[in-house]
Amino acid sequence: MNEFNNVIDSARAAFERASAPAELENAKALFLGKSGRITELMKGLATLGAQEKKSLGAAINRAKQAIEMALDERRQALANAQMQMQLQSEALDVTLPGRRRGQGGLHPVALTLERIEAIFGSMGFDVAQGPEIETDWFNFTALNTPEDHPARSMHDTFYVEGGPQNAPNLLRTHTSPMQIRYAVQHVRQHRATTGTAQGEGLFAGSMPEIRVIAPGRTYRVDSDATHSPMFHQCEGLWVGENVSFKDLKFVFTDFCRTFFESDDLELRFRPSFFPFTEPSAEIDIRFQDGPLAGRWLEVAGSGQVHPNVIRNMGLEPERFIGFAFGMGPDRLTMLRYGVNDLRLFFDGDIRFLSQFS
Ligand code: DAH
Repeated sequence: MNEFNNVIDSARAAFERASAPAELENAKALFLGKSGRITELMKGLATLGAQEKKSLGAAINRAKQAIEMALDERRQALANAQMQMQLQSEALDVTLPGRRRGQGGLHPVALTLERIEAIFGSMGFDVAQGPEIETDWFNFTALNTPEDHPARSMHDTFYVEGGPQNAPNLLRTHTSPMQIRYAVQHVRQHRATTGTAQGEGLFAGSMPEIRVIAPGRTYRVDSDATHSPMFHQCEGLWVGENVSFKDLKFVFTDFCRTFFESDDLELRFRPSFFPFTEPSAEIDIRFQDGPLAGRWLEVAGSGQVHPNVIRNMGLEPERFIGFAFGMGPDRLTMLRYGVNDLRLFFDGDIRFLSQFS
């Protein structure tokens, strides 16, 4: 009997050691297989007498049943463990928050451009877009900048090589060429819709006023904390029969106070020079409070459109008069949000940019 208990115990131990179904089947063979321990014991019965055969045979059978039971238990345990592992690996934490896709947002300078467009839009200004690769004519000559004029070297221009003659050959250094492009188009369209002959000298009839802003990218050979080779400008133009400097002051003051949400913002028009305006003024603003309070800050150039420029628009300067201004949306953005390095706008660092969305 003792011998059989040992066999049962060692079978249980062998099954226990098996950590996978295949190992368990190998262990089973050691005891119940063709030359397993139990089978060997059975074979031994053949040589015994009937009485012994009966009692020993019954004992061996009980041992066999005990081993089979142990085997079943272990099979079950391994199957359970397998199931448990699978459940764990497929576990789903339904309390986890969903994975959102980042929302994205507008670039701070784009926000400023939208703001500029909305404010001037509310004052009846159209918004126009124009090419960034310009001709010398639109960028300089039509704006009353003679060939040898110092203003040409005031702007360090990127030139584009290899194009046909008189084709666009420079990256526009300012948005001012849009004054000419827009006005010429406006005059041509007016002449077409009213049936006035085209190209018959300067237009001197009556015409709806030109009121437009032209925001966009501009380029100069320049790079430091406050200059970037690519930057933004926004041009403004208002031409009619009775538009004066007083209107410029009113419109620009209203714009700045709305843009900076400050009713007591001060403006100063400081005499200056631009080839395309006469007289010309630099526009400075001064905040009453906040970190920039008390300092005059330059935000735009402006002036009354030069008669030569009026002519290049196709208009008779004896009849038409107007003013223009050009401002820097990058700088306006820096002032509005207190950003001190222009390059941050163009680095594309999401940690900086996401603060504005
Ligand atoms: N185009 C000038 C610049 O880039 C800015 C400017 C000055 C625009 C006076 C104007 C103006 O329309 O009237 O420096």
